[in-house]
Amino acid sequence: MASTATSTRVALVTGAGQGVGRQTAIDLVRRGIAGRVVVNDYVAERAEAVANELRGLGAEAIAAPFDVTDGPAVREAVAKATAEFGGIDILVNNAGNSGTAGHAQDQSLFWESDPAEWTPWIGVNFTGVLNCTHAVVGGMVERGYGRIVTVISEAARVGEPNYVVYSGAKAGAAGFTRAIGSATGRHGVTANCVALGATRTPATAQIDEMDDKTARRILSGYAVKRFGEATDAAAAICFFAGEDAGWITKQTLPVNGGYSNAL
Ligand SMILES: NC(=O)c1ccc[n+]([C@@H]2O[C@H](COP(=O)([O-])OP(=O)(O)OC[C@H]3O[C@@H](n4cnc5c(N)ncnc54)[C@H](O)[C@@H]3O)[C@@H](O)[C@H]2O)c1
Repeated sequence: MASTATSTRVALVTGAGQGVGRQTAIDLVRRGIAGRVVVNDYVAERAEAVANELRGLGAEAIAAPFDVTDGPAVREAVAKATAEFGGIDILVNNAGNSGTAGHAQDQSLFWESDPAEWTPWIGVNFTGVLNCTHAVVGGMVERGYGRIVTVISEAARVGEPNYVVYSGAKAGAAGFTRAIGSATGRHGVTANCVALGATRTPATAQIDEMDDKTARRILSGYAVKRFGEATDAAAAICFFAGEDAGWITKQTLPVNGGYSNAL
């Protein structure tokens, strides 16, 4: 894989301070898909550290610490990045899970939950996708080129009993992505989703602490008997983000070791 930036494309990756987002930012550069990267994370030090890593790979990179659920902050950061790098060509809506509060444990039974518990899940997994897409898609349409990739979850496709609001918010993001794809295809802008199964990242650190029996039980639902890696996710995201994927839009690609099928 090439280790120097060969593209002038500008990418914004949300939640890129660790896990799938960090790996995606790195691979966009290594694969020559983006040469300028706006590294978003709510945690400023994480964003700065990844921006430094990307500079080490020969890319131009800026850290953009904002909360994707804060519409005005998103618009301000995108305007600043655009002034520095030019318009955003590639948006990876990756920030997710339970948002800035960190990765929450299983939600309580939905019928016992307090509606106030739903807000962080809907905010980062749905509203955040709207905010970031809204901030960049007009420019993509104007310039006649854009790639939007939204990271959803198998929870959105299959329905996770312990993550029901998360499942719904991610499914909402997928529906939104299909609709945006319909609206922008004629302008050279594609919009697709990648649906992840259980993937080893800081959010799922419990995978590394799991005993063999628990791991085997979880993996019994997977055709490929290992957990996913951030590199597995990033490979699919980079595919949709690349120039060559221009005739693929409104699709959801499961990256899930065969946990479920897309027919
Ligand atoms: N890891 C998995 O097993 C898995 C499975 C299915 C889907 N996903 C999805 O993949 C994406 C990446 O997950 P991950 O496992 O790499 O997570 P992670 O928690 O390791 O990393 C996410 C990063 O996003 C940042 N972030 C969180 N809320 C934010 C906000 N509101 N604004 C800006 N930044 C914010 C966090 O600070 C963190 O650095 C998420 O959308 C998640 O829902 C992950």
